[in-house]
Amino acid sequence: MKKRDIVEVTDLSENEVRELFALAFRIKKNQSEYAGALKGKILAMIFQKPSTRTRVSFEAGMYQLGGRAINLSGNELQLSRGETVGDTAQTLSGYVDVIMIRSTSDSDVQGLAKYSSVPVINGLSKSFHPCQALADIFTVCEKKGLDEKSVLDFDFSKVKLVFVGDSNNVSRSLLNLSGIIRYRFGIICPEKFMFDESEFEAVKKVNQGIYSSSEIDPGYMKDAEFIYTDVWASMGDEGEEAERKKLFGRYQVNRELLDKASANVSVMHCLPARRGQELTDEVMDSSNSIVFAQAHNRMHLQKAILHFLLRGLK
Ligand code: CP
Ligand code: NVA
Repeated sequence: MKKRDIVEVTDLSENEVRELFALAFRIKKNQSEYAGALKGKILAMIFQKPSTRTRVSFEAGMYQLGGRAINLSGNELQLSRGETVGDTAQTLSGYVDVIMIRSTSDSDVQGLAKYSSVPVINGLSKSFHPCQALADIFTVCEKKGLDEKSVLDFDFSKVKLVFVGDSNNVSRSLLNLSGIIRYRFGIICPEKFMFDESEFEAVKKVNQGIYSSSEIDPGYMKDAEFIYTDVWASMGDEGEEAERKKLFGRYQVNRELLDKASANVSVMHCLPARRGQELTDEVMDSSNSIVFAQAHNRMHLQKAILHFLLRGLK
């Protein structure tokens, strides 16, 4: 069987995404049944950037499945001294069963996937955050009351998720995932930081429910069920923080914005949050907020990913 990688959500078919959600539902509900599913398997985790959720959810998830995890910070590896990503990939492939990498460079993730003979998972790169988007839409599925059966043929066009913030790795993976299972997806972002039109075009070919604007239009917001935001300056964008703060100021997710959306709107954030910037304390701590459910689902969904890559979807 050819090994599979998840560099971006587009590495998965629609059927695989639905089956992955179904598996995550089963794993979350019957944790003890899966306790030995990955017994003897080893995950290597490479971190070239900081992490709280990705690091701990992968490691705890791997332990819960009966496997082990090795944490490697980027600057401890010879990769940081010029060893090639190809040589690193071929070496690690002889020791471990699966590799997760959080990288400063998209090409390192792609290179690792290309040269490794074991599956590679992108745990965030400059352009993509597939594990996040998958866990987020799994959280949306829970919120909609779906289960392992109904998720297999649910009509996702009933879901409307509006991302208010930067065109970054998280919003890109959410956009791309909407091109696979076709939920309605909108992004509201200052023009300067908006995705290139070509990125929308690719998704619009399969999903009619794509919207983008640099204005907050109350008419569009009024039936938003999910409002998502993320930091205005991602890791690596620190040099632009002052400029971004000015441009993004009017896109803050606050009570006034929530009042424009549907009454039971859920507020989402991948975390870590800059409280008081992209969202207010009041909103983050309100009953509308599902940010910690998202964070916790990272582990359940990633357990499903690990199971998928090492043992299959059933
Ligand atoms: N959302 C997310 O990936 O969090 P960490 O940076 O803490 O891993
Ligand atoms: N867009 C953020 C996500 C952090 C989980 C970043 O890349 O820093």
